[in-house]
Amino acid sequence: MNTTAASSAIGGHVDGFASTKRSDTWWLGWALTAGGLALFFGYLTLRAFMGTHLWAGHGLNYISPIGSPPVFSPGPTGAYPGAVPPNHAWFGQFPSWWPRFIPQSPAFFIPGLAIAFRATCYYYRKAYYRAFAATPPACAVKGVPLKYRGETALLLFQNLHRYTLYGALLLLVFLWYDAFAALFSSSGKIGIGVGTLVLVINATLLSGYTFGCHSWRHLIGGKLNCFSCDGASKARYGIWKKSTWFNERHMLFAWLSLFWVCFTDFYVSMVSRGVITDLNTW
Ligand code: FES
Repeated sequence: MNTTAASSAIGGHVDGFASTKRSDTWWLGWALTAGGLALFFGYLTLRAFMGTHLWAGHGLNYISPIGSPPVFSPGPTGAYPGAVPPNHAWFGQFPSWWPRFIPQSPAFFIPGLAIAFRATCYYYRKAYYRAFAATPPACAVKGVPLKYRGETALLLFQNLHRYTLYGALLLLVFLWYDAFAALFSSSGKIGIGVGTLVLVINATLLSGYTFGCHSWRHLIGGKLNCFSCDGASKARYGIWKKSTWFNERHMLFAWLSLFWVCFTDFYVSMVSRGVITDLNTW
């Protein structure tokens, strides 16, 4: 057997970054993951800092998930067109002590919990380690010579995922409320529009992502020694089984919900700008 091409590493890995004995297109998944993460998280970060056109206006009750729930509103200052009206914000306008160098964006409050939830998600950890740290970029592919210390040192904060779950569950309540509120025009008349459907799909996909979370699955079904002893354990076992279905598709829901959050914001901002006219029954 010719061993000259193999390294001394156990398993016979080939030396050199991105070297591998794999003959499939492993790099395609890596490139798509890196590109998708950069595109979608880049878009969300940009929009969070802009703080504009988070409210559809034009008599519609559509709010972008980036601005929901609106703790403060910048008010009708002109610097933030399409901002959530002050009478829809929990505490009205931003306080006078708000630093001038920080944009008056409601995204910096409760919506930020979603970033903490995704950044510590078990699936996303794998995705961005491979995509950006490339240690390794894929299975059986040589990565950059970094020592992995993800769970013990540098990225210890990721172990906080079980706590960020509570923030995500809270956020879901607000997003479902937004979807329900989108059934009414600003004058209170019930109806339905394309924006309503966009917001409902957004809440649905984010629910699919959240209820497939490993921490949620453990919370609901972990430490359960008997599945049928009493009503409570039967109920928990039933929820755990449903959570397992979502958990098996966690990566799918992670991507679908990430894309749809961006699309929902894009749709609301386009309606707010008057670029898109929302088709609706009002
Ligand atoms: S593991 Fe992905 S959201 Fe919890």
